[in-house]
Amino acid sequence: MAFTFNAENQNKVKEILAKYPPERKKSAVMPLLDLAQRQNNNWISKEVIAKIAEILEMPEIKVYEVASFYTMYNLKPVGKYLLQFCKTTPCMLRGIDKIIKTCEEKFGISMDQTTVDGLFTFREVECLGACVNAPVVQINDDFAEDLTEESFLKILEDLKNGKSFQVGSQVGRKCSAPVNN
Ligand code: FES
Repeated sequence: MAFTFNAENQNKVKEILAKYPPERKKSAVMPLLDLAQRQNNNWISKEVIAKIAEILEMPEIKVYEVASFYTMYNLKPVGKYLLQFCKTTPCMLRGIDKIIKTCEEKFGISMDQTTVDGLFTFREVECLGACVNAPVVQINDDFAEDLTEESFLKILEDLKNGKSFQVGSQVGRKCSAPVNN
């Protein structure tokens, strides 16, 4: 089914396009992909690509090239919560593997899979840039930091029950200040 921006997002499209000279409107491809992804259940379908190509008057393949280059664009459906587990060295040293193993066992899925209820998708990523508070998992737009297996399972349980979670450090650390643990 063809994708169209909803009324609210059509206004946002106009605002985004207004930031660029008309002859350079192709530069708006990334913010438009982001906007469309948020409207389209967190993924970029072929129909989304076609709509953005039409708005920006550029070939669909060029839009696809951008969408497929950056990992923040999802080219296939994901769960309501996209969990991006950081597997770079500081998070490895601080126990991300144990957290991943526990989650995989509890939910019965592996990386790049989605739970049957459509709630969680697991993804392995490289450094999320919050190494001082390792281990870190990005949950949609937010970070959960200073995690343990217990604290992360509690977050997932809360999300499952429709509750929010404490964004950032789970041990009360302020920004990147030292903690005694
Ligand atoms: S290594 Fe995990 S956030 Fe940098």
